[in-house]
This record gives sequence, C-alpha cells and structure tokens, in this order.
Amino acid sequence: MVMALALAPALAFAQAADVPYVATPQNVVDTMLDLAKVGPNDFLIDLGSGDGRIVITAAKKYGTRGFGVDLDGALVSEARREAERQGVKDKAEFYTRNIFVTDIGRATVLTTYLFSHVNIELRPKIFSELKPGTRVVSHEFDFGNWKPDAQRRVPVPRKPYGPPASDVYLWIVPANAAGRWQWRVPAESGAIEWEAALEQTFQALVGSARAGGNPAHIESATMRGEEIALVITAQVNAKPVRHELHGRIEGEAIRGTLRIAGAQQDLEWQATRVSRGKINIDAAAAAPALAAGF
Ligand SMILES: C[S@@+](CC[C@H](N)C(=O)[O-])C[C@H]1O[C@@H](n2cnc3c(N)ncnc32)[C@H](O)[C@@H]1O
Repeated sequence: MVMALALAPALAFAQAADVPYVATPQNVVDTMLDLAKVGPNDFLIDLGSGDGRIVITAAKKYGTRGFGVDLDGALVSEARREAERQGVKDKAEFYTRNIFVTDIGRATVLTTYLFSHVNIELRPKIFSELKPGTRVVSHEFDFGNWKPDAQRRVPVPRKPYGPPASDVYLWIVPANAAGRWQWRVPAESGAIEWEAALEQTFQALVGSARAGGNPAHIESATMRGEEIALVITAQVNAKPVRHELHGRIEGEAIRGTLRIAGAQQDLEWQATRVSRGKINIDAAAAAPALAAGF
C-alpha cells in the first residue's frame, strides 16, 4: 500500500513512448547525414534520439552541434555516456523530454525515426517553428502527403522487420510563397505590369498569372526552401513567349532574375507581395497538380 502510494506520482507523470526503440543501422545514419548535406555550421536535432547515434555521428564526422531528446531516461543516459566516450559531449547533448514539447526552432537539420502518424502530428510544429530551408530527414517513415524533395534506398541485410532495405527521405521546409505577387517587366512600349496569385500546399504551388492585363499561363511553379522558380508563358506581340523566373523569397519581396526566351541577357526580377496567403498543411489536402521537382 505504502509502495503503491509512493509510486503513484511517478506513474501519473509517466508518458508512453509514441514509437518503440529501434536503432537506425550505422549505414542508414550515414546516408541520412549525407542526404541532408550536414556540415559544421548546422545545428541538428534528433526527435526520439535513442542511444544518440545520429547526433553523435554528426558531431564526430562533420563537427555538427546538436541535441537529441527521448522519453526514455535510460537511453538518454546511455547517449550522454557515448558522447563523452567519443569525445563529443560538448557538441552532442541529450535531454529526457517529449518530442512534442521540444523547442525545435534552432535546428537547421531535424532527424526522425518515428511512425508516419507521429510525423504527421509534428507537421504543424515543423511549419511554425523551423526556418525555411531547414532540412528534415526521416528514416523509413514519411510525412503523409507532404512529398519528399529527395529519397534514397539503403540496403539493410539484417533488418529486424520488413524487406532488407530502408528508405531515407529528405524534405526542405519551404518559405511561404502564398498570395498575390506583382512585378514589372521593361518592354519597348514601357513597363508591363505582371501579377501572379499562388496557392501553396507544403512546397507545391499552383496559381494563375496576368501580364499587361492579359491571362498568362503558369507552366511550372516550384520551391526549395526560400528559392522559387516560375515558368510563365505570356503573349508578347501576339506570340507566346516563355518567361523563366528564379528568385529568393525575403518576407514580402522576391529578388532574382528573369530570362525571357530570345532575349540577349537576363533581367533583374523584383516582386512584391500585395496580399499574403497561408501554406496549406492540412493532412487531408491533396498536393496541387503543379508539384513538379525543382
Ligand atoms: C525508433 S527509435 C529511434 C532512435 C534513434 N533516433 C535512431 O534512429 O537510432 C524512436 C525513439 O523515440 C522515442 N520516443 C517515442 N515517443 C517519444 C516522445 N513522444 N517523446 C520523446 N521520445 C519519444 C523512443 O523512446 C525511441 O527511443
């Protein structure tokens, strides 16, 4: 009875792990870090860090700083001991903490080996806390209908479940490009006013455009972090002309270059957002049709 009463507070605060502990094989860890192009200036956070191998490998191999969190205090202690043993305890830190209350805003690389439904639950956190351009790398499990920007398959001969291979996925957190953008393009007859209205689901864009008041056709619209690329065909002197726009989104502005088919040289492209939209990260939403690769 006394024992039960003593345990009661601990049990009341005990949290169940959303995913059991299974370690990522070392060759898969290496592929995850390679796919994310992890370097010494990155800050890596592993959500559900187990024995700490992802954070420790990044610290040892690339000099990357970071931390891991896990609900299992014994694994956290093991990870700390291993970081010390490998001489990287100043770079690789570990905390007993729930992934859902972990502040992830410092990450430039976020790693996971969690179930897809847990990843999907993490999507609002990822889109609200992580900076555009942050790489998210997952071992095995995807983020539902958020399409990966890259993926690799790695042989795992003694895998404890499923076929003897693991998938590694990479996502790049996109900037917000949603809304109405306006810019001007110099022409012989004076500047032409352009406008594009873009809807965004994760990194995929669809929309419509107008040039000089006439409809123009968006052939493709893609994003990678803060970079945006649009190919728009507009009528110029009654002929369809391809316009390729590449730029970087900086808040309510885009700065980049415009290549007009047949022109001698590229022009500067500066667009201003006149009305801001929201990124759609609704789990049920289908990705827009123009979700082509970058
Ligand atoms: C599949 S293991 C991955 C371990 C390590 N990241 C790796 O790839 O080798 C998942 C880990 O997540 C931890 N975990 C599950 N749910 C968690 C939660 N809500 N908060 C923190 N850790 C959690 C488990 O204790 C387990 O160690």
